[in-house]
Amino acid sequence: MRLSVRLFSSVVQKRPFYITTPIFYVNAAPHLGHLYSAVVADAIQRFEKLVNPDCRVIFSTGTDEHGTKVQQAAAKANLPLQEYCSNISKEYRDLFRDFEVGYTDYIRTTDDKHKKAVKYFWRKLVKNDYIYKAKYAGWYSVNDEAFVPETHTKDEITKEGKVKVSIESGHRVEWTEETNYMFRLSAFKTHLQEWLKTDGVIQPSKFQKQLQEFLANSTYFPDISVSRPSSRVHWAIQVPDDEEQSIYVWLDALINYLTVTGYPDEDLMKSRRAWPPDVHVVGKDILKFHGIYWPAFLMAARWHPPRKIVCHSHWTVDGSKMSKSLGNVVAPSSVPAPSALRYMLLREATMADDANYSETKLINIANSELADTLGNLASRATGAALNPRGEFPALHPHELTACISRQATADLLDRLERLPEICHQHYTNYQFYKVVDSVIHVLHLANLFFETMRPWDLKKKPECHKELDVILHLTLETLRICSIILQPIIPSMACKLLDKLQIPNDARHWEHCMKPSWRVEGAIFETKNIQSGKFLLFQRIYSDKKKIHKKTASG
Ligand code: ME8
Ligand code: MG
Repeated sequence: MRLSVRLFSSVVQKRPFYITTPIFYVNAAPHLGHLYSAVVADAIQRFEKLVNPDCRVIFSTGTDEHGTKVQQAAAKANLPLQEYCSNISKEYRDLFRDFEVGYTDYIRTTDDKHKKAVKYFWRKLVKNDYIYKAKYAGWYSVNDEAFVPETHTKDEITKEGKVKVSIESGHRVEWTEETNYMFRLSAFKTHLQEWLKTDGVIQPSKFQKQLQEFLANSTYFPDISVSRPSSRVHWAIQVPDDEEQSIYVWLDALINYLTVTGYPDEDLMKSRRAWPPDVHVVGKDILKFHGIYWPAFLMAARWHPPRKIVCHSHWTVDGSKMSKSLGNVVAPSSVPAPSALRYMLLREATMADDANYSETKLINIANSELADTLGNLASRATGAALNPRGEFPALHPHELTACISRQATADLLDRLERLPEICHQHYTNYQFYKVVDSVIHVLHLANLFFETMRPWDLKKKPECHKELDVILHLTLETLRICSIILQPIIPSMACKLLDKLQIPNDARHWEHCMKPSWRVEGAIFETKNIQSGKFLLFQRIYSDKKKIHKKTASG
C-alpha cells in the first residue's frame, strides 16, 4: 500500500527546482551582505522560471537562531531569547519583502518541525555509527561558532593585550575543554574527494579547487565535535537522550535544507522530489561548512549531497569585509536609493572576487544606467513629444531595409539579435554583472541610434513620419527585449516598463525575447497602443555631497 502511494506520487509530481540561501544568524540586524546572498538566489530562481515558466520552484531562506552567539546577543539586548529571535527574524523577512526576494519557504531553526528534523537526523548518525563521545580540547570561536585548529590561529595584540584569533576569519578564539559528541568526519575524506571531482559542483570553479586543495593538503583530517555542553550552550536543540549535551549549531543549521523538503517524513519527501537541492547559495566564509561538513553529514545519513553550491565573495567597505563583528555594516534601507540597490549588487559583484560598496558608486550606477541609459530612453520613446499617439508602431520589412543602411542601426540590430543568447549563457554561469553589461551595451547602442537618427527632426516633417515610426519601433522593441531579460535582476522596474509597453503577462517569458519582431517569421506586427501618461522609470538621485563625503571619510 505504502509503496504504491510513493510510486503514484512520484509519477504525478515533476521534480521542482530547489534553491536555498544560508539561514542567517539573528545576532544582529541584516546588512547588505545578507541581502546580496538573497538577491543572488532570487535572481537564479527568477531566471529558472523565466526560461521554464511551468517549473515549480522551492526557494528557501530563513534564520539561524540557536547557539552561543545568539544567546549573547539576546542577553545584550536584554530580551527573552525567543522574543529577541522573533524580532530579528522579522527584520529579515521585511528586508526580503522590500527587495523582492520571492522565497517560497521561510525557515527558523526554532520551529518545532525543524527541531524534530534535527533530532531525527542525529539519531540516524548515531544509528549509522558516525557519532561517539570524547573529551575535547581546542580553540573555539563564538563568532564563527566553530572550533579552530591550533595551526589556524595566530596571536594578535589588542588594547586588551595579546589574544588569539582565527587566521581565516580574524575572530577571537578561546580555549575550551569539554566533553563532546564527535562526528567521524575522517571517514569521509575519500568520498568527499570523489564528490568534489564532479564537474561544476561548486561554482565558480575557483572555490571547488580551494576545497580540493584543502582536502589534498589535510594529511590530518580530524573528526569534528558536534555537540556542546548544555551548561554552556543552553539555547540549542538537545541531544536526544542526553540532556547534558546540546547539538552543535552548525549541524542544526545545515539540516534546515532538509526540513524544508519535508524531512523526516520520507514519504512526503519522496512525493515532493525536492532532494537533493539544485543550488545552495552561500558566501565564501561558510564554504567549508557547505562543501565539506554538509556533504559528509548527508552521506553519513545516506542522503545525496547537493547538486551544486554557488559560492560568492564578499562585499567590503573600504576594503574590509562588511560584517556585524567589525561594525562597518550598511543597512539596506539606509542607502540613498534603496530601489537601485538590488540592481547595483547584482551589477557590480562578480562571484569570484570581493566587491567594494560605496554610496558614490551606488548613486553613479543608478543615475547613469537606470535613470539615463534605460529610463530616459524609455521616456523619450514613449513620451508625447515624439510619440504623441502613444503607439508601438508596426514595422514593415521594407522600411527596415531603408533604415539599416545607417551604421548605428546596423550595430544596434546586430547586437540586439545576439543579446538573448549571450545573456542566457551569462545567467547560466551566474554572471549577473555580464548580463547587465551586455544589456547596457545594447542600450548604449540604442541611445546612439536614437541620437543619430534625430527623431525630433523627423517629427517636424510629415513626410518623414514613416521613418520616425521605424525608429520608435526599433527603440521600443529594444526596450521590450531588454526588459524581459532584466526581470530577474530588477523585477518591479522591468515590470513597470513592460506594463508601459502593454506587453501581456504571458508574453514576458524568455522565449518571447529570443527573436526581435523582424525575425519572427510570418508574424504580423500590428500597431499597438502603449500605456498613456508620462513615464519615469527611475528618479535620478541628487546626492547631498557633503553627507556622502562625511560618510566615506569616516568609513
Ligand atoms: O554564517 N558580503 O550566518 P551569517 C557578502 N547562520 N555576503 C555576506 C557578507 C558580506 N560582507 N556578510 C554576510 C551564518 N554575507 C550561518 C549560516 S547556513 C546553514 C548557516 C552573507 O548571519 C553570506 O552569504 O553569519 C554569508 O555566507 C552569510 O551572509 C553569513 O550569514
Ligand atoms: Mg557570519
